[in-house]
Amino acid sequence: MDLRVTLGGMELSNPIITASGTFGYGLEFVPYGDLKKLGGLAVKGLSLKPRTGNPMPRIAETPAGMLNAIGLQNCGVEVFLKEKLPLLPYNDTAIIANLYACDAVEFAELAAILSSEEGIAALEVNISCPNVKAGGILFGQNPAMAAAVTEAVKAKAGNTPVIVKLSPNVADIASIAKAVEAAGADCLSLINTLSGMSVDIHTRKSRLANIIGGLSGPAIKPVALRCVYQAAQAVSIPIIGLGGIASAEDVYEFLLVGASAVQVGTANFFRPDFAFNLVDEVEALGQELGLSDLDEYRGSLVR
Ligand SMILES: Cc1cc2nc3c(=O)[nH]c(=O)nc-3n(C[C@H](O)[C@H](O)[C@H](O)COP(=O)(O)O)c2cc1C
Repeated sequence: MDLRVTLGGMELSNPIITASGTFGYGLEFVPYGDLKKLGGLAVKGLSLKPRTGNPMPRIAETPAGMLNAIGLQNCGVEVFLKEKLPLLPYNDTAIIANLYACDAVEFAELAAILSSEEGIAALEVNISCPNVKAGGILFGQNPAMAAAVTEAVKAKAGNTPVIVKLSPNVADIASIAKAVEAAGADCLSLINTLSGMSVDIHTRKSRLANIIGGLSGPAIKPVALRCVYQAAQAVSIPIIGLGGIASAEDVYEFLLVGASAVQVGTANFFRPDFAFNLVDEVEALGQELGLSDLDEYRGSLVR
């Protein structure tokens, strides 16, 4: 079965990409599998300067999911390019740089730096992080702001494809998707985490120092499927679906509602070898479903 997918100018050997923030800079997962096997790898959100993130505790387990408020801790773009990227197999797997900035100018600056690097296959613009005070989700909740950031990044991205990552924490995901497409995005990825909270009745405290965090994992899959479905109805650019994927069946559910590829996030925490095995599992299930390639299945939901 042919697992290859084309995403806004990017050619992937298969539709399995690891989600930003759940797979470090890739190198942390070398003990668990061959990075070359993945269709792509989205690295932890990068900012111009290193960030220490939010105070601890920053992670709490919830039924069928987890809450996090990391606050985009990262080593900064310079260290990433110097110390991490050269160690990644960028000729064999698509390395996607996930970008975080406080305003459109800073987003554009990051885009200019990263798009001139040979090893970066695409830029993923995070306008959907619920865990930072400035920027983050605010950009993603307003169609005009989402479009302005997309335009600013596109203007500096050259030939590097631009993926815009959307938040489910909006009233109308289709209007954001359309605005971002009109602003020149090559591809969309959705969803980022859902805003959530977990509290302890004995200590009377939130389990996160930040009080509120982002919910991810199997608990959010139905919301993610709905968002991908609605976005796919609204735009013609390709969509990467994510949110709670924990099996090959989950991957086909996202393809069915219109995704061209998927990202695996929280599952990397409870099964560090999951994404690697998933490539084979998706192929086996595709054969069972009688498919010769993924295109014939994408968006084929019967109504
Ligand atoms: C600990 C943690 C850190 C994350 N950091 C980022 C990030 O830096 N940039 C980003 O765009 N998304 C980030 N995300 C969101 C994930 O990439 C993904 O959108 C979300 O977790 C939903 O997918 P999942 O249910 O498969 O985990 C983070 C998620 C978690 C759990």
